[in-house]
Amino acid sequence: MPVWVQVAYLVCAVGFILALKGLSGPRTARTGNLIGAVAAVVGCAIPFFYLDLHHVPLILAAIVVGAAGGFVGARRVQMTQMPQMVALFNGVGGGAAALVALLELRELVAADEFAGSVPWFTLLATAFTILVGSVSFAGSVITFLKLQELMTSRPVVFPGLPVVFGLGLLAAVVLAVVTVVNPAEPVGVVLALVGLLIGVLLVLPVGGADVPIVISLLNAFTGLTVAAGGYVLGNTLLLVAGTLVGASGTFLTRLMASAMGRSVANILFGALKGGSTLGAGEASDRPVRSAGPEDVAILLEYADRVIVVPGYGLAVAQAQHTLRELVDVLGEKGVKVDYAIHPVAGRMPGHMNVLLAEAQVPYEQLVEMDDINGDFKNTDVVVVVGANDVVNPAAKTTPGAPIYGMPILNADEAQQIVFLKRSMRPGFAGIENELLFDPKTTLLFGDAKETLGKLLNAVKAL
Ligand code: TAP
Repeated sequence: MPVWVQVAYLVCAVGFILALKGLSGPRTARTGNLIGAVAAVVGCAIPFFYLDLHHVPLILAAIVVGAAGGFVGARRVQMTQMPQMVALFNGVGGGAAALVALLELRELVAADEFAGSVPWFTLLATAFTILVGSVSFAGSVITFLKLQELMTSRPVVFPGLPVVFGLGLLAAVVLAVVTVVNPAEPVGVVLALVGLLIGVLLVLPVGGADVPIVISLLNAFTGLTVAAGGYVLGNTLLLVAGTLVGASGTFLTRLMASAMGRSVANILFGALKGGSTLGAGEASDRPVRSAGPEDVAILLEYADRVIVVPGYGLAVAQAQHTLRELVDVLGEKGVKVDYAIHPVAGRMPGHMNVLLAEAQVPYEQLVEMDDINGDFKNTDVVVVVGANDVVNPAAKTTPGAPIYGMPILNADEAQQIVFLKRSMRPGFAGIENELLFDPKTTLLFGDAKETLGKLLNAVKAL
């Protein structure tokens, strides 16, 4: 590899690290994303200038098709469909790495027959890439189908699943060992098929609410696959990029799991023990206190301190702009308003930050859970917009509840609580929220965009 290529790869690797750093805060996320994208494009372009590539028109055609698909998909996707989009992108990454490793295996087999000296570690890394890349591809396809509701989002378990899964793992180990000892292309193909089976069986038992965590885990798998692929191909940039994705995916998985008060093992294997029952629940018919927009407007007008708790329903209703307008008007009237951001509000990490940033909400009004939880007891009104699980006290009080142990926003400590939702249906965890029946609570029923619009007019009219 010429020195200029090594230097260029080093610059790209630094670009990836800066991208991750930028993505860790809302102010710098756009720049970080751009730096990462530029580094990736440069990294992909470099081989055209120093390698004697075959089939260049085919490669270029594949790049055009992939880029067009990604561009159109990313522009069209709704904010609520982002997790399945990430799943799909991640899956094709893992699948591509597995295919490249399969092709590389063919080369290695030929080299081994010719010289008989392919290092065992290279063969092991090839087997790893084929296996884990296939797991990641198949698992990501199932997560996509679940989130897109093309199949049930409830856990799918059948008798003997753990046995088949265990046999699949055993077969994978045996085939990987065979690949190292006696490399052959058909063994690699069978290994890929076993990887696909393991990927499907890994994700089937996971319930809908846990699927985003599995996406993050599969993302980490893809990163490790790409890193191993970089080793096999002798490409340092792939190695660095894959390691970064693997490490950050692992951290994110752990952070999300702990923000939901669950262990990763419980999320993956809970359903096998009958522990994961997350999914749609029944609407309650217990009486609650409801009010109209005018009553809620008066409540807000007389408040000094208001906290807004945004949740998944805000994204569904696409009501972020109306909400920002309401908060601005209240601010002009002297009410201090902040947004309380729960780490797993919505359906993916940073969902609420991205949604509210899109509506030009100033970053300083977005306050993380740990920083705002002490303020609720001094708050006059909490307005919960399309959120449910993230304020459900069952997380603190009901051992055995699916969300028990998940840290929540202390909305229950405020003087008054207003819920904006359409019905008495539960949130994603599928369990009733006692806070809806609290004497301090008022419900403003309706689609959030509509009710926020009416509330805004009522506040302006006061
Ligand atoms: P949820 O608990 O799912 O509650 C959303 C609420 O929004 C529902 O009560 C729903 O009630 C309401 N809603 C839906 N559409 C609406 C609309 N158009 N207008 C008004 N309200 C609407 O959401 P949350 O509080 O944000 O909690 C997130 C959940 O997802 C947690 O259980 C969390 O563990 C899980 N989860 C999150 C992540 C990440 S990383 N964010 C990952 C995995 C799982 P109605 O149907 O009555 O309107």
